[in-house]
Amino acid sequence: MIHVRHLSHTFGSYWALKDCTFSLEKGDFLFLSGPSGAGKSTLLRLLYGALPVQRGEASVADMPLHTLKHRQLPALRRKVGVVFQDFKILPIRTVNENIALPLEVRGLAPQQVVRRVRAVARALGLENHLETPCGALSGGEQQRVAIARAFVMNPQVLLADEPTGNLDTHLSFRLMELFKQFQAYGATVIFATHSKELMKRHPQAKILWLEDGAVRDANWPGARILKAPRHREREHGITLPPPDTEGGRL
Ligand SMILES: Nc1ncnc2c1ncn2[C@@H]1O[C@H](COP(=O)(O)OP(=O)(O)O)[C@@H](O)[C@H]1O
Ligand SMILES: [Mg+2]
Repeated sequence: MIHVRHLSHTFGSYWALKDCTFSLEKGDFLFLSGPSGAGKSTLLRLLYGALPVQRGEASVADMPLHTLKHRQLPALRRKVGVVFQDFKILPIRTVNENIALPLEVRGLAPQQVVRRVRAVARALGLENHLETPCGALSGGEQQRVAIARAFVMNPQVLLADEPTGNLDTHLSFRLMELFKQFQAYGATVIFATHSKELMKRHPQAKILWLEDGAVRDANWPGARILKAPRHREREHGITLPPPDTEGGRL
């Protein structure tokens, strides 16, 4: 369902992602973890086509990203739901409008839109806020709207970038249960988080540990673990040449 091979990404001369290789099957749940700045968001942005693949290969829901044309992006977005770290919801629109947006873009019949928005809002405890403008909600409620908007499309793949970052423990555990339910329906989930507590709540999940942009640990054989850089390389912070030069993979 998700295949990543030798994927690297550079911002200028800074390598945010270094030679990542792993595979996930349909219905897998992956915790993407590692310290701040490790490259988690960069990897997720690559997987939903917000950043171009510069080096290596990746495919998501049978769509190869390294050869993806701009016009194929809407097809990718239909298969991949995303919950951003900073929500990206529309503050002057109501909860109802925000959740319905992706369905309307897709041209669903109005009765279907109403039905699906209500079901997802109920699951996330937002049913009493449907007509509230999102700007008036608390941070935690806004985050739930962002999650509802990703769930409502029923995507094959769900990517979540620290979606419980602003929530209290009780709410983040509840959200975790929803993501697990989503996995039980057959979706493949990648869930970026720092929280060891959350990871303990889902002991069957796969875990990929990123550090300095590289996969430093994983708990299943479908991921390739790279050894930590030698001390001198770590000191200088750059272990790869720029992408337009030949060779030089880690
Ligand atoms: N657009 C960008 N331009 C330059 N550097 C960036 C950009 N986005 C991320 N970075 C850098 O790449 C590294 C990895 O960032 P990120 O993927 O956001 O890490 P994480 O999500 O694990 O905290 C960080 O050092 C960050 O500063
Ligand atoms: Mg991040």
